[in-house]
Amino acid sequence: MNTKIISCEQDLQTAVCEAAGLILNGEVVAIPTETVYGLGANALCDVAVSKIFSVKGRPQDNPLIVHIADMEMAYEVANVSQTARRLMEEFWPGPLSVIVEKKDCIGDGVSAGLKTIALRMPKNEVAREIIRKAGVPIAAPSANVSGKPSPTLAKHVYEDLNGKIPLIIDGGPCEVGVESTVVQTVGVEIPTILRPGDVTPEMIGKIMGEVVLHESVCGKTTKNDVVMSPGMKYKHYAPKASVYVYEGDKKTVEKNVCSMYHNCKENAKNVVVFCMDDTAKGYEGLNLRLFGKDAKSAEAKFFAELREADQAKIDTILFHYENEMGLAIKNRIIRAAEKPQGEVTKTK
Ligand code: TXA
Ligand code: MG
Repeated sequence: MNTKIISCEQDLQTAVCEAAGLILNGEVVAIPTETVYGLGANALCDVAVSKIFSVKGRPQDNPLIVHIADMEMAYEVANVSQTARRLMEEFWPGPLSVIVEKKDCIGDGVSAGLKTIALRMPKNEVAREIIRKAGVPIAAPSANVSGKPSPTLAKHVYEDLNGKIPLIIDGGPCEVGVESTVVQTVGVEIPTILRPGDVTPEMIGKIMGEVVLHESVCGKTTKNDVVMSPGMKYKHYAPKASVYVYEGDKKTVEKNVCSMYHNCKENAKNVVVFCMDDTAKGYEGLNLRLFGKDAKSAEAKFFAELREADQAKIDTILFHYENEMGLAIKNRIIRAAEKPQGEVTKTK
């Protein structure tokens, strides 16, 4: 299959029309959102949805997020509780997926057999325009091959899915850079964050009074865990390099990172340190990649840097995590460092 790329900057109307047309025809298309690129298909069509799973190599028991353009569409596909509506009113359009009870028009393929679905109204105008034009809700996971870092540029999608999908809509770099915050509102008394994102627990707590973080957010997940968020039990975001996460007292971390770095060098490893701008002075002379000054800049750079490390044939990443990077990065880097058996390479 020939994979076409259409740039929104050059021809927005063609981009929207071709994407919507293919989606209505039961095809899967990569579309930009403000978080990461999504691999979209008609959420009301089982055959189209099954193509998402085969293109990505995604496990069948990992449910998809359903993207909608307006509240009317939300009510067509789900029963929206008061709690869910409050969250939607506050954070939509935006990087928040709210889990609600699904209606029958959404098949088991989308929900992986669950009675619930995650709903999201993206802030990205192109994404909403494609949904509007197609006139159907769009199921879309991140547009990467399962297990790989999520795509924040059209070229990342191309690297993973060239030849497997008919069309990639290039909407430029994703503004946020990490996937949406996923919040459970069904079967819990207090809204529960299953996956942290740009909408923080503090922001949700302020609106809802209370919020809970699911234990899998910052811990390792094992196969025996009862995982409320099915996606969290799989290997995620993994670059080819081995990832080591360092966290704690800055001076101690710097000492440990430097010692590991030199050790790698002695063993002819291609090693890099990932850290925040202000921390760079502790690593003078080392091969460094910088993540800016706050969570927003770290999120915007994170996945692209993991992919670039692969391009540069890096085989060891030493990640100096600091709280300023935020929970979304902590969650992703723990997953990236996870070995297939669920063992985390983390150094205090
Ligand atoms: O920002 C995003 O959310 C991006 C863009 C494309 O919108 N999409 C995305 O989808 O990250 P995906 O499939 O990579 O992640 C969906 C996550 C998974 O962790 C999945 O387990 C969880 O949402 N999820 C979906 N439906 C669920 C449900 N009914 N109950 C619990 N978790 C659910
Ligand atoms: Mg994903």
